[in-house]
Amino acid sequence: MSSENAKKISVVGLGKLGAPLAAVMAQVGHEVWGMDLNPEAVKKINEGIAPVQEPQLQDFIAQSAGRLKATCDMAEAISATDITFVIVPTPSQQDGSFSNDYIVAALTAVGESLRAKTGYHLVVISSTVMPGSMDSEILEALAHASGKVIGSSDLGLCYNPEFIALGNVINNMQHPDFLLIGESDPRAGDLLESLHASVCQNTPAYHRMNFINAEITKISVNTYVTTKISYANMLAEVCENLPGADVDVVTDAVGSDSRIGKKYLKGAIGYGGPCFPRDNKAFAVMAERLGAAGDIAVATDSINDRQVDRMVNIIGKHTAKGACVAVLGLAYKPDTPEVEQSQGIQLCERLKALGFDVYAHDPQANGYAAQQLDGIATIADTSTAALARAETVIIVTPWQEYGVLEFSGGNQRLVDPWGIFDVAQLPEAMAYIPMGRMAK
Ligand SMILES: NC(=O)c1ccc[n+]([C@@H]2O[C@H](COP(=O)([O-])OP(=O)(O)OC[C@H]3O[C@@H](n4cnc5c(N)ncnc54)[C@H](O)[C@@H]3O)[C@@H](O)[C@H]2O)c1
Repeated sequence: MSSENAKKISVVGLGKLGAPLAAVMAQVGHEVWGMDLNPEAVKKINEGIAPVQEPQLQDFIAQSAGRLKATCDMAEAISATDITFVIVPTPSQQDGSFSNDYIVAALTAVGESLRAKTGYHLVVISSTVMPGSMDSEILEALAHASGKVIGSSDLGLCYNPEFIALGNVINNMQHPDFLLIGESDPRAGDLLESLHASVCQNTPAYHRMNFINAEITKISVNTYVTTKISYANMLAEVCENLPGADVDVVTDAVGSDSRIGKKYLKGAIGYGGPCFPRDNKAFAVMAERLGAAGDIAVATDSINDRQVDRMVNIIGKHTAKGACVAVLGLAYKPDTPEVEQSQGIQLCERLKALGFDVYAHDPQANGYAAQQLDGIATIADTSTAALARAETVIIVTPWQEYGVLEFSGGNQRLVDPWGIFDVAQLPEAMAYIPMGRMAK
């Protein structure tokens, strides 16, 4: 990147999303200041160490040497940069809506630091917010703290949420399907579009719009994807109860219809993680507040809530009371240690409550799950150790290594909700229970 194209960027919040964004921007040649209140994250960045676990992140930080620095001091980050991304938590509240408290606190500090700065500055909110937030609380907090007019020659504001999946964040940032930009004015949107173009290795569509449309779009993408997942799980449950039915055969054919598509149309178990489970709840709250109907979001959510029951029922049907069950997979998906809202942890809790002796394993998430599973499950260092004593083994997270488990040949049963295990590799004495599909 030529030096005149290199921008000066700050990233406020160096968590699961912010740290990869800072590294991706620095790697292509921009000058980046990371800012976080957590001194540990700042120290790690300054020592060249990834503050969160994410594929490729360590390499990108190493390739950014000299262009990626971090500080706990907002004034230092703002005075040295012209574009600021805010990627702080927006936790779900009791009613399911997202709180803007962290954003408002961060923007207050950003705005106060902007008072002392001359020249144009762009502030970009990447956190997921409730529709209506940008034009009210967020805009007001920044305008009040900075004393500047948003959409003027001094200050621009954009809403630019990311559509990434943990475990694939850097690749998703470099190859997005599309970029969503809610903008205060064209200058702000133009600058943000050019910045993304410098990072993308593909040529995505740019959807630029006002704040409210961007806020609705963000939340709609996740609620639509989860609707597809719940739809496939609904089909899986139906197939489970119809002899000869196979959900993979059905979804493969259904998904061939170009109006539908195969992505995320996979009958298995429920979704988890920091985003999917909370977005339908937020959508439903938004609709209810408006007096509109959010029924599909509510149904998607309640189908998802049934998926742990489905696993518990199948295990219960095939396992003696109090016997040992091995739960393989605690991360909410492969390639991440993240255990928030994980089906594996929920399953361990339910099985323990029903009196089973629970063993659990995950290739990356053992340490992250330890506190939640204290007194609930014995965490095994290896999958082999987890399944040694188990009467029933269930593969909850479809990690690649679980597709080639080695069983000792005892009288065990394997429940495989994702259909990832090659049944020909199973010892003869073992029973294979594919949920909603035929053994492959
Ligand atoms: N993680 C995901 O998969 C994902 C995907 C899409 C959108 N999002 C959204 O992105 C936002 C951030 O998510 P995350 O997973 O990166 O969160 P995170 O908890 O991993 O990281 C947030 C970081 O912000 C820092 N922080 C909090 N308040 C601050 C402040 N005032 N100033 C500076 N730093 C501050 C925290 O110390 C932390 O390091 C959320 O709104 C989330 O919904 C996350």
